[in-house]
Amino acid sequence: MRYIGIDLGTSSVKLLLMDGDGTILRTVSRSYPLSMPRSGWSEQDPEDWWQETCAGVRQLLEGESPSSVAGLSFGGQMHGLVVLDKDDRVLRPAILWNDSRTAEETSRLNREVGEAQLARWTGNIAFAGFTAPKLLWMQSHEPELFARIDKVMLPKDYLAYRMTGVHSTDCSDASGTLLLDVEHRCWSEPMLERCGLGRSQIPQLFESWQVVGTLTPRAAEALGLPPAVKVCAGAGDNAAAAIGTGALADGACNLSVGTSGTVFVACDRFPRLENHAIHAFAHANGKFHLLGCMLSAASCNQWWVERVLRETDYAAAQTGIEKLGENPVLFAPYCMGERTPHNDPALRGAFTGLSLDTTREQMSQAVLEGVAFAMRDGVELAKAAGIPIPRCRICGGGAKSRLWRTIFANVLGIPVDSIETEEGPAMGAAMLAAVGCGAYESVEQLAKNVVRVTGTVEPDAELTARYEAQYQRFRKLYPALRTLE
Ligand code: XUL
Repeated sequence: MRYIGIDLGTSSVKLLLMDGDGTILRTVSRSYPLSMPRSGWSEQDPEDWWQETCAGVRQLLEGESPSSVAGLSFGGQMHGLVVLDKDDRVLRPAILWNDSRTAEETSRLNREVGEAQLARWTGNIAFAGFTAPKLLWMQSHEPELFARIDKVMLPKDYLAYRMTGVHSTDCSDASGTLLLDVEHRCWSEPMLERCGLGRSQIPQLFESWQVVGTLTPRAAEALGLPPAVKVCAGAGDNAAAAIGTGALADGACNLSVGTSGTVFVACDRFPRLENHAIHAFAHANGKFHLLGCMLSAASCNQWWVERVLRETDYAAAQTGIEKLGENPVLFAPYCMGERTPHNDPALRGAFTGLSLDTTREQMSQAVLEGVAFAMRDGVELAKAAGIPIPRCRICGGGAKSRLWRTIFANVLGIPVDSIETEEGPAMGAAMLAAVGCGAYESVEQLAKNVVRVTGTVEPDAELTARYEAQYQRFRKLYPALRTLE
């Protein structure tokens, strides 16, 4: 049988068709617009997600027999607020994970409820991109719409709803709402109350591999699939990516270099943190993980290459970059504010160290290096929580670049493993579907069979030492930039 993984990303939906033995048969990607109606706002129309998913599934199955598909599942951009009225109509555009309009509501939660109490209730503190502050923002800025909310959902759960008619979510994605008691994998009553929500307004919780339902006749028609196809709950994109790269064992680390940049560390037990600059979330295998999230990773490079250099060829934009570890130019990648470790939505990006002989290559290099330095901030937090990180895996669009992987290996000072596909979340989603359909006992068993490391970039001692000095310079940027806000 075959399984479809659907990664509902920020710039596009990526779909992957996997055979029962884990072979990737085809991938398809379809993009949709991102709307930024004001500085720091980030929204999408859930209808676009649905239309492109339907078109993507049809494209994925061209020349295939739809009856060979047993199940599908999701990896989804996390934290986004999707609100439905009593007739299940979308009330307003979804407010995404990288939207920073909730600075006021976020600091009110951290101040009034208090970080310690929030961490007791949910395992985490409030960050501007999380779902709960968005609800509070709607409550004060759009009270009429807020009063009409019948259901609150996360982005990928809207797709599951359109497919099955069931309002569902999974523990990994629900972790990023700040409404879940992560340790006990149940909704937090005090947080629901604080956000003015009743039980009937939130979706039913599943583990990521569990079956939510089968396709409604209407959805089957729209997707070109048989109604018997099983829809499994899926996971937040980072947990799905960790399944796809096999980051499952205690301490296993995966870096995802997509629109966001994340450092994911699997934990067998719920991690008790002193410093909540990183998140403690539920993993998609029923366990837990740490997550450091920088808001702009490959998106900084996309901005630089496409908007500034006006190039479309990313490899060409990297030619001429030769002197690693010696760049006088530094780039602070805070173009949409920053989550880990600064929790500062008002922050913005910067280049420093420019002179009249600065070259385009140095600036392109600085963008790649700035992202790697900011990811190292997340790795350092995980290490400070007592978790050694001896090596990592990497996925996401940024993982395609050998140069960027080399920079990561040397900035972090650890070997960086590449996996057969850099489409981590879509692969993880297909794997969850295979487990949900009973083809495998667990994601661990499946990952052991199908996840293959195809290459490793080893760090070089001399280059790592040079990058260490550069990283110490990079760390001085945030305190300086903060004074400019
Ligand atoms: C994780 C996060 C991002 C989004 C991107 O906390 O906000 O990685 O999930 O899709």
